[in-house]
Amino acid sequence: MQIISQLDMLRTTVSDLRKGGETIAIVPTMGALHDGHLTLVRAAKARADHVIATIFVNPAQFGPNEDLDAYPRQLAEDAAMLAAEGTAALWAPSVEAMYPDGFASSIHVAHIGDGLCGADRPGHFDAVATVVCKLFNQVRPDLAFFGEKDWQQLAVIRQMARDLDLTLPLADTIIGVPTVREADGLAMSSRNRYLTAKGRAAAVTLPNAMKAAIAKIEAGHPVKEALSALKAALISAGFQSVDYASLADAKSLDPLDALTGRPARLLVAARIGGTRLIDNMAAGKAQSERAQSGRA
Ligand code: PAJ
Repeated sequence: MQIISQLDMLRTTVSDLRKGGETIAIVPTMGALHDGHLTLVRAAKARADHVIATIFVNPAQFGPNEDLDAYPRQLAEDAAMLAAEGTAALWAPSVEAMYPDGFASSIHVAHIGDGLCGADRPGHFDAVATVVCKLFNQVRPDLAFFGEKDWQQLAVIRQMARDLDLTLPLADTIIGVPTVREADGLAMSSRNRYLTAKGRAAAVTLPNAMKAAIAKIEAGHPVKEALSALKAALISAGFQSVDYASLADAKSLDPLDALTGRPARLLVAARIGGTRLIDNMAAGKAQSERAQSGRA
């Protein structure tokens, strides 16, 4: 596997890989890889001839009081994991290569990027959209793989790709991969390593309370009550605060106060021991499956 840090080298590698008409899938990451990231690489390998993974801890998407300096960096270890998965190349540019002096452009994806994490982290999704657009233009992949773990991010990237015609030949080929979880149900995240043993033990309340809230909502309990109980469960487990807990239309991310029969998603961000954890799950599936089989 080649590790590339200069754009001209990347271009040469991409055109070499494409000789003979082979396809390329991109897997953008910020490194500190875990099985969630590697699952994206495996999904990409199954769909394309070659996988290019990217590692870039994008300073622009971290707020002034966020964890940019603390964010784990372990390029050699990550490269070994990617090579073992059969990744063709690792694009790991420097901050200077991505944002040369005088860099002045930004992409804002309105509406879908404004609520939820967008409201708590001003400018975050502009920076994500901008860097992902650059990565797409640098690699020009046929397919791109992102985790459903970051549901809103995936929605923002799909919207941007549609709006800015980044989707030819990428049409419908921004692929979302289901969230990979630890054995106890906590979604894998590079940030889980910030947790103390006590925090890690309490963190499992997040997926558990989300499942309980979804069960209540699907059983017909008022959404507001289910969300209040979810927040209370997190606080009593030791979470300091809940940034949001929202039932939303899975596509538009517009908040819902009841299930509508269309795909819905429960999305939560909460802080424990100074670490911000996010998770999301499908809601209303049981209900729409019952409706489809005529048992509703
Ligand atoms: P990062 O947090 O490193 O995540 C890289 C990719 O891995 C994202 O698509 C994310 O959704 C996916 N991922 C993370 N944890 C996952 C899990 N448990 N299961 C499945 N997929 C998971 O997201 C970013 O980096 C950045 O914002 C980036 C898109 C690279 C732009 O800088």
